[in-house]
Order: sequence, then structure tokens, then C-alpha cells
Amino acid sequence: MKVQTLPPTDGNYNLQDYEEAKQNFDWSEIEKQFSWHETGKVNMAYEAIDRHAENPDKQNQVALHYLDGSRKEEYTFADMKKYTNKAANVMKEAGIQKGDRVFIFMSRSPELYFALLGAIKVGAIVGPLFEAFMEGAVRDRLEDSEAKALVTTPQLVERVPFDDLPNLETVFIHGGVDDEKGGFLDFDARLQQAGSDFEPEWVDREDGLILHYTSGSTGKPKGVYHVHNAMIQHYQTAKWVLDLKDGDVYWCTADPGWVTGTSYGIFGPWLAGVTNVVRGGRFSAQDWYDTLDRYNVSVWYSAPTAFRMLMSAGDELMKDYDLSSLRHILSVGEPLNPEVVRWGEKAFNLRIHDTWWMTETGAMMICNYPAMTIKAGSMGKPIPGVYGAIVDDQGNELPPNRMGNLAIKPTWPSMMRAIWNRKEKFDSYFELNGWYVSGDSAYMDEDGYFWFQGRVDDVIMTAGERVGPFEVESKLVEHPAVGEAGVIGKPDPVRGEIIKAFVALREGYEPSDELKEEIQSFVKKELAGHVAPKEIEFRKSLPKTRSGKIMRRVLKAWELDLPTGDLSTMED
Ligand code: PRX
Repeated sequence: MKVQTLPPTDGNYNLQDYEEAKQNFDWSEIEKQFSWHETGKVNMAYEAIDRHAENPDKQNQVALHYLDGSRKEEYTFADMKKYTNKAANVMKEAGIQKGDRVFIFMSRSPELYFALLGAIKVGAIVGPLFEAFMEGAVRDRLEDSEAKALVTTPQLVERVPFDDLPNLETVFIHGGVDDEKGGFLDFDARLQQAGSDFEPEWVDREDGLILHYTSGSTGKPKGVYHVHNAMIQHYQTAKWVLDLKDGDVYWCTADPGWVTGTSYGIFGPWLAGVTNVVRGGRFSAQDWYDTLDRYNVSVWYSAPTAFRMLMSAGDELMKDYDLSSLRHILSVGEPLNPEVVRWGEKAFNLRIHDTWWMTETGAMMICNYPAMTIKAGSMGKPIPGVYGAIVDDQGNELPPNRMGNLAIKPTWPSMMRAIWNRKEKFDSYFELNGWYVSGDSAYMDEDGYFWFQGRVDDVIMTAGERVGPFEVESKLVEHPAVGEAGVIGKPDPVRGEIIKAFVALREGYEPSDELKEEIQSFVKKELAGHVAPKEIEFRKSLPKTRSGKIMRRVLKAWELDLPTGDLSTMED
């Protein structure tokens, strides 16, 4: 196996000696650094915000720089304590209690962060939703979680199908309500009036913190359930891997609708007490370089698709910005091509550090540390306290350089504790001899570095987002013209994969470009723009097993001009 090895980064880092840390590591030592170590009672929002607000050396430090269009604001840790307390009071007054599910469906704004942390202070379980979700996607998540409250905006509230959601009692509107009635409350007015003191609900370390819905290859999105105890790993990886130190200005580009935007857009950086940058709006190369320059960002966490888009925007543009504050760049979500690592070296004079983890793992698992020699294209090594391996389909560990299932030995502090309401789904992750099986295939080289090879299942990764083909197929067949649909990921140079749908039309419908567009916008309107197939191909029929399951593997082989493999289970 040929790999390109880059020389080690130098500098003063927290994890100098990986091998030693790996031998002598104990999570309970990390826990001792938190205030709840003695009492056993904990609250994530207290540890992330109030702890710093009560520290005279920290309270006036900027915790949040926010920028979107003309709205440019900053909040110190003391401010953040005040506003998250106010949000907690607003929720408590509206009857929100420990364990209630409070969903947040809005674009990035300071109020999103107040609401999310305020809900956590009350002891509620928060459920962040990506603003691009349309009615069907919103319904699935609020229905499954039996959400009691929602924080949203006048624009997005129209996508909430209230008639289908009997448990949803309270809707907080940020951005204006004419008249408070029928459970619709004016979040901003209430925030202003609310008291700024609040005693956080002291919960157990195993009490619920957050639900992130994510896709598998079958069934509807599943609610991945995390508890407060996860903070131990958020904090430790923020130090080891993000390498956060006092004085850092940190920017995570992910939206809190995805796990990266909460674990490392909220929890990690604030547990580590650094200044956090949030930039709203869509991707634009200018705006992104502007953000790095304007705030003197020192640590930057983003995704391969974004790096590739910056790469294609050209190096000329960069010259207008001063990026000299940057000292550490990281990536997550999809394979980080060696080409992008090399571009990063040239463009920033820094190596982009890949990290691997999943919604289910809650925090980083396999990483490139600042002090480690990077092999461009490898995800790195498991963090101390995590045992990763490659196992065969019986759960036996494989030797180096053999491809197999990327698996982790349970357990670790931030591991999901359940799939909401679906025990059998949760159990299915551990069917191979008790290993947590990721669904990724990979190999480990003789130096212990892990190399991603692909997904074992049909899950699609497009622009770093995980899309379940089943969800898209189910929506497609709701369109009156669609008889059958099979959805695959098609390799794409910028987005990693794009979504391609094969569609067999019902009797009486003829293929046409107009129909393609109509079907695309149907999925867009119902689910979300990023899950709508970019390409649709009409076929007379689709390859199916005798039991009627669409064979996506065959569709993929057709698409890529590969051998179709064993077709013995295919119907005639
Ligand atoms: O296939 C792997 C891919 O993203 C999946 C997890 O997706 P999600 O739960 O949405 O979480 C993404 C952010 C934590 C994995 O099963 N993935 C994640 N990181 C990498 C990756 N693929 C290759 N390289 C990575 N560094």
C-alpha cells in the first residue's frame, strides 16, 4: 500500500505522546476537571457557559461572535449566561419540564443558541432541525420524538403540520407574532421580559441532552439519543484534537441541525472556554475568507466539500484577506482527498487534519492530532480511551491492511444511549460480537492509521450530509407519476456524491424533462433541497429481488459501468 507521508507538525500541543497517552489513559481523570465530579449532578449548559461567566478572568471574554448580513453582534460569557437564563425562564414559564423534547427549527442566530442552551438548563432534551427541512421531514421528527415545544420563525412555521402533531403544545416564535394565542408565544418579547437569574435543573449524567435525527439505509430517520455525560468527550477532544487553548478564536462552519454543529459548534468550544464564531447565510468563498480574516480565526473546523468549493474559487481571491491568524484546520464528514490536503498546505501553509466520527458516536473517535504525522488520505488513529478495529462479518478482528467493517469496542463517554423508541435499531449496531459497527468499510495500516474505503450499506454522503436512500425513495413514490424508485449516490468531484434516482413511471405517464423537474421539486418541497435527486433517469423497470426489494447495488453498477455481481436473487 503506497501512502504519502507528510512530516510532523511542530508546536506546543496537548497530546505530544500519543502512544503513552493511549497506554495510561482514563476517562474518569478527565471527569475530575468538571464541577459536577463531586456532586454527580450536572448540566451541560452550566459547564459550557455559567462556569466561565462565574470566573472573573473569563466572564468578559467574547463567547460568541455572530455575523449574518447586517446583523453583527457579540456576546461575552456573562451575556450568554444572562440570555440563556432568560430563555430557560421563558421555557419554564411555558411549562417545559425535565425530559420534554424541545425542537429548534430556525436558521443560525444568537437566539438559536439562547434557546438551545436555555432548554438544556431546564433539563429538556433538545432537537435541532436544519432550516432546509420541509413539511414531511419536520413531521417525521416531531412525530417520532413527541416533541412538546418548538422554537421557530414566522417563515419556517408554515412548514409545521400542526394537525399531525397532537403532542406539540407550545410554539415559540422568534421574529414576530401578531397576537399570542393557541400556544403560539412571542419568544423575543418573552425573552426581554424574563428574569436573568436561573438555577439550572441539576440532572443525572445519564439524563437526556439531545436528539439528532439521522439516516440509515432503511426506514425513516432515527433519533440518536445522547446524554449529558457526553461532555467528557466533547471537552477532551476539543483540547486534544481541536487543540483549543486560551485566547483561541474558533470557527466551526456546521449548522447545529447536524451533530458537528452541536458537539463542536456549541459544546466542545464552550466547554473549553474559547471564543466561538458563528456566521449565518449560505456558503460564499468571499464571506468565508472574510470570516477568517475579520475575527482572526485561529482554529477552523469544516468539511471536504467546503474545502473543495474554496479550492475551485481559486487562490487569487484569497490574496485579499489576511489569514495569518490561522494555526489549525480540521475536517469531518466525508473522505478528505489527499489533493485537498495538498491544496491546504499551499494555500494556508497548514495541513488539514481529518477527523472521523458519526452522529451515533457523539464525538470524535479517529483523528489526526496536531502532533501526529499526517498520512494524507488517512482519517488518523483512535483517540486514547477509544479502541477501534477492523472486523470481518463475524466480528473477528482483522490484521493490518485487510479491508473490513470499521468497528469500535463499546463504550466511550459520548456514545448514543438509544435510538428513540426503537430498541431493535439500537441493538442492531452491536450484532457483530458486541462491537459497535459503524457501517463504514476501512482498513488499518501497520502503523495503526485508519483508511476510509466507503459505506457498507447504501447510505449516501452528499456534501457531507448523510442521506438515507429509503427516505428519498419513499417520497418519490408518493408522486402520482412514480411507480417505483431506486436511489443511489453517484460520485461527484465537489460534493463527494450526488443523489441519483432511477424511476419507473406508472401507466399513462411518459418520460419528459418537465416531469423530471416536477418530480425533483416535489421532493424538494416535501423533504429538503439537499435530498432531492440532482439526476433522474427513467427506466421501464427497476432491478428487484424476488421479494420485491429494489437492488440499489445493481443500479450503482449500471451507473458506474461495473460488473453487477451475483444476480441470483434478482427476479426475472
Ligand atoms: O461514512 C462516514 C462519514 O460520515 C458518516 C457519519 O455521518 P454523520 O453521522 O452525518 O456524521 C458526520 C459528522 C460527524 C460516517 O459513517 N464520515 C464521517 N467522517 C468521515 C467520514 N468519511 C470519511 N472520512 C471522514 N473523516
